[in-house]
Amino acid sequence: MTVTQHIGPDLAPASDAAALRAAYSCFPSGVVAVCAQDPADADSRELIGMAASSFTTVSLDPPLVSVCVQNTSSTWPRLRGAHAVGVSVFAGDQSLLCRQLAGAAEHRFDGITPLLADNGAVFVPDAAAHLSCTIHNEIQAGDHTVVLLEIETLRADPTVEPLVFHASTFRALEARRGD
Ligand SMILES: Cc1cc2nc3c(=O)[nH]c(=O)nc-3n(C[C@H](O)[C@H](O)[C@H](O)COP(=O)(O)O)c2cc1C
Repeated sequence: MTVTQHIGPDLAPASDAAALRAAYSCFPSGVVAVCAQDPADADSRELIGMAASSFTTVSLDPPLVSVCVQNTSSTWPRLRGAHAVGVSVFAGDQSLLCRQLAGAAEHRFDGITPLLADNGAVFVPDAAAHLSCTIHNEIQAGDHTVVLLEIETLRADPTVEPLVFHASTFRALEARRGD
């Protein structure tokens, strides 16, 4: 018989917002930029985009990935109208750019030359991966919307060090030989 012990009395209720945020922050993730040309503004070619650490790979066939977007986002309602969105997986040395893409909307593309695909998807240069996607589905989930994105075309370089977000801080990965 397997021996167990009681977990103890110190489990916080999920209604404890600070405990919930702390628990979520324990889970390390990569960070992506989700960007497109504003479809309502093709003449001025205004670019829109946001950083998201909620990116997850979902399915190989069909090729699906997801991001979770806060329902308060002012950028997502514009992005979702785009013909295609570009997902760029931030490289390890792009933490400042990542913060910029979460900051003041009018300065999100300052100092970089974004890459534009024919379908209107927009990418951050020098990212570890570029995924050109269309919106497959959106699922309301509490105060966020789970967005399923279907990849149409892509390029990726797994030798590029990725940016890692953990406990509200950007970190780097360390390869552990022999584990
Ligand atoms: C590291 C990092 C990760 C983020 N991840 C998400 C995310 O997964 N989903 C989301 O809706 N916003 C995320 N944000 C916030 C957005 O990038 C952006 O700041 C927010 O959507 C408000 O801007 P908006 O009103 O233009 O959408 C993240 C910000 C940072 C700095």
